[in-house]
Amino acid sequence: MLVLGIETSCDETAAALYDTAAGLLGHALHSQVDMHQAYGGVVPELASRDHIRRLLPLIDLTFAQAGRKLRDVDAIAYTRGPGLAGALLVGAGVASALGIALGKPLLGVHHLEGHLLSPLLSARPPSFPFLALLVSGGHTMLLDVQAFGRYQLLGETVDDAAGEAFDKSAKLLGLGYPGGPELARLAAFGDPRAYELPRPKMHSPDLDFSFAGLKTAVLTRVRALGANVCEQSCADLAAAVQDAITDVLVHKTARAQQITQRDRVVVAGGVGANRQLRDKLAAQFVDKGVELFFPELQWCTDNGAMIALAGALRLQAQPDAARAAGPFDVLPRWDLTQIDALGRGEGSAHRA
Ligand code: KG4
Ligand code: ZN
Repeated sequence: MLVLGIETSCDETAAALYDTAAGLLGHALHSQVDMHQAYGGVVPELASRDHIRRLLPLIDLTFAQAGRKLRDVDAIAYTRGPGLAGALLVGAGVASALGIALGKPLLGVHHLEGHLLSPLLSARPPSFPFLALLVSGGHTMLLDVQAFGRYQLLGETVDDAAGEAFDKSAKLLGLGYPGGPELARLAAFGDPRAYELPRPKMHSPDLDFSFAGLKTAVLTRVRALGANVCEQSCADLAAAVQDAITDVLVHKTARAQQITQRDRVVVAGGVGANRQLRDKLAAQFVDKGVELFFPELQWCTDNGAMIALAGALRLQAQPDAARAAGPFDVLPRWDLTQIDALGRGEGSAHRA
């Protein structure tokens, strides 16, 4: 079965073709990072307009790469939520129009399910069940992934997400957007022991996270430095921030592994690209008989392949999950644990 995947939930426009027998056949992506950089963050209206400009050429490119025609697809999967309402509507609108024109069914995919399954795109994919640390710009979650479609939430952030903590700290340090990779680059030149930063909730008995206090602590240090701020103090502070965030993530993941006793741990989402997080997790689990799985860097951040994959797996498991193209909606707020057996969900729907 051949599935076209469309991703437009935030600031990446992406398309991909996934075949249940042959795997990923083609993918194309445009990142809007340069456009939003000037504003220090994503401007939703600009994001939507750019998705409109980019999506159809990217779909053409994907089909050309794969050597397939539009009529070859069995279904069209698109990100139905969560994300920016206007941005999501572009992908959902194009998917619906294609579905109506081609007479092909649609699958509305949960963006986080895409991230969660993205390690399955690797040459060495994990098998179910596994423990997942999902760390993106908007979410920080520990999930027990029992099987495809069966996700139990073990813990999540009570305030800022880990990616948000990276991004906000980077902004306070005067770095560009998105801050995570920039902060990580600068941290390589700093000494994390130069500043003592809090590790919120690290020792709490639950599996929840909290990162808002960290941002405040960074703000206090930056203010205290005032005019004395220099390249080295910025690098030291960046190193201390990265160290604090990764310490908490690794500590809580280790606790979740002890509780669930899963012997496979998967890390997904944009922050999963962080080198220090990968190294610390590897050191944590090296002699515990726990296998670690990371998506390739290109599948850590938003992409179309993970949406095509999630749609294809859904179609394979439940052929009746696909619905005829017609009126559509998106779910800007959509809880992953609320998706039903068919991968559908309700919530605060934005109808077109
Ligand atoms: O998963 P993603 O692409 O988008 C969302 O669905 O949110 O994640 C984006 C987040 C941003 O906060 C970005 O700063 C962070 O991932 N990120 C990183 C790194 N690469 C991306 N954070 C730390 N280190 C990195 N190398
Ligand atoms: Zn994402």
